[in-house]
Amino acid sequence: MTIEILQTHKLLDSCEQALAGRYVVHKLHEAADRDALIAGVAPRVRAIAGGQVDGALMDRLPKLEIIANFGVGYDTVDIKAAKARNVRVTNTPNVLNDAMAEITIGLMVALARRIPQADQYVRQGKWLKASFPLQSELNGKTVGILGLGRIGKEIAVRCQAMKMRVVYHGRHRQELEPYVYYSSLVDMARDSDWLVLVAPGGRGTDKIVSREALEALGPDGRLVNMGRGTLVDEAALVEMLVSGKLGGAALDVFQNEPNVPDALFALDNVVLSPHQGSATHQTRNQMGALVVQNLEAHFAGEPLPSAVV
Ligand code: 8YV
Repeated sequence: MTIEILQTHKLLDSCEQALAGRYVVHKLHEAADRDALIAGVAPRVRAIAGGQVDGALMDRLPKLEIIANFGVGYDTVDIKAAKARNVRVTNTPNVLNDAMAEITIGLMVALARRIPQADQYVRQGKWLKASFPLQSELNGKTVGILGLGRIGKEIAVRCQAMKMRVVYHGRHRQELEPYVYYSSLVDMARDSDWLVLVAPGGRGTDKIVSREALEALGPDGRLVNMGRGTLVDEAALVEMLVSGKLGGAALDVFQNEPNVPDALFALDNVVLSPHQGSATHQTRNQMGALVVQNLEAHFAGEPLPSAVV
């Protein structure tokens, strides 16, 4: 019997081909009439590939058994609703740790040394008239990591390679980690030159980086957000960057992607990145493969490689 699944958004070609080779795939994101598509396939759909799944969608799919989310972050899947309906949820952890850590360091150096501006400086012929202004470096600075999980640990290792001192904040102290733990985010921000965010999104962490935390980071401090836009009070962030109360920011994620607050475009102390933490061929292919592996394991009655629920 062919298994029917619902795909909720565009996935990589490699992933879509793998899914199409195994299942009958209904593409919700391509449907002209989403309601009609759901109504037509609902009695047969046993799985969802992709994210953006709320309780209302689950309610419309009485045979739904599993949601295989594309991404380590599963904040667009209503986990409580899934649990209540006995629907399994999987994500794509680990395979993206290195890509995420690499670009984090890249954005930090880009911000510290003004690499985007330096590139423009050369292209616009300004170097012929004067040297580019001196900048700062990572070496010798303290980086506070919010969320010392799998990705956070890879970032920590790379920050140490940049000769930075690493401290961290999270819900719990991790006894086996060599870094200083702060039970208070604000206290950590006060002790940090750089604050790197890699905590998960969702209700539990909404605006956890408050104005108070940003003030503690201060006019010489720099914020790097690699997690979710929802982690930060974005209005406060923008105001403080504009007024100089915060030194700078490298932002890969935003509250209302792909919309970025206009005020940021004019700022020299900001590096903007279009949510590309895991966006390499190598990593995204592995993430796609993990989506497929989770579905295959589920339908074979085997343990799920990366279950959230
Ligand atoms: C996304 C991410 O999955 O893994 C995550 O949590 O944020 C990304 O890698 C990306 O948005 C996929 O489209």
